[in-house]
Amino acid sequence: MTLQEFLDTARAIERDAIAAIQGASSTDALTAVRNAFVGRKSGRITDLMKALPSLPQEARREAGAEVNRVKTLAERALEERERGLAPAGDATEVDLTMPAREQWRGAKHPVTLVIDEIVEIFRQLGFTIALGPEAEHEWYNFGALNVPPDHPAMDMHDTLYLGDGALLRTHTSPVQVRTLQRWAPPVRVLIPGNVYRRDFFDPSHAPMFSQVEGLAIDEGVSFVDLKATLTHFAKRFFGAAKTRFRPSFFPFTEPSAEMDVECRLCGGVGCAACKGTGWMEILGSGMVHPRVLDAAGVDSETYTGWAFGMGPGRIALQRYGIPDIRILYDSDVRFLEQIAR
Ligand code: DAH
Repeated sequence: MTLQEFLDTARAIERDAIAAIQGASSTDALTAVRNAFVGRKSGRITDLMKALPSLPQEARREAGAEVNRVKTLAERALEERERGLAPAGDATEVDLTMPAREQWRGAKHPVTLVIDEIVEIFRQLGFTIALGPEAEHEWYNFGALNVPPDHPAMDMHDTLYLGDGALLRTHTSPVQVRTLQRWAPPVRVLIPGNVYRRDFFDPSHAPMFSQVEGLAIDEGVSFVDLKATLTHFAKRFFGAAKTRFRPSFFPFTEPSAEMDVECRLCGGVGCAACKGTGWMEILGSGMVHPRVLDAAGVDSETYTGWAFGMGPGRIALQRYGIPDIRILYDSDVRFLEQIAR
């Protein structure tokens, strides 16, 4: 092929390509035109480019520039035509009988919903939020809370130790001490957070779960204050449900009490969730032990106060009638979306 023949062929292809592109009336037709001219393996422009090496050396530069110009021009025209065709093409392809796609909306986890509600009730009583670390020092988790070294809770069996005196906190109570170290009384805080235990994984225990701790310290705070506040909370949260206090023991409180609410799943008759008792234990509480106040640097001669710790997971079981606490931590959206709001 001579240079002149090459240039003539290029111009002829250019004319044909423009005409074919303008004439394409659907995306399918346009695809066929694209293949006929700039198809990757063959096509009139592609083939012409492949013929370049057969030209005499001195002709290749001009010929190459020309075929490149034609190729660029054809590609631009193809793009433009495609844009022109797209809306019409799509409109004819819409199938109005297709079922609508459902939008999946994210939502709060039931335990988070319960924590939010608890926080709101106490916020109205003047409590603020405090947070502390999940990886905690042994001293904050046990020693400062008057837990003796031979206490069963310190057993390797119950606690996840991290080494060098660190552990995953087994309760939110260490944040009581951290809070009192930072702020002088009067203090009223609520402390939500995750805690860890090497518990059996059964219907009412999980190795990681949530707690909400409460702490109220001031001059002249008594057990009456504790009982009145927690009863008020139960009335607000559970409606008219009955509550009861049972004497209990915690190293960090004296005296100590646990609060039960009448089981909402069986109405107090007794079922699997309440182990047949008709009552659901929702929190541990008590007057903060003077040794805990002293460890936190608070004068236990001047100040008294109370604390509680509750399990929003357990409360969520009650609130939503869920029979197994493990469901809460499985993250199965088929379950979660039944409760989400
Ligand atoms: N920390 C206790 C636990 O995890 C719960 C608890 C009981 C917290 C009594 C308190 C309290 O603040 O006063 O089992």
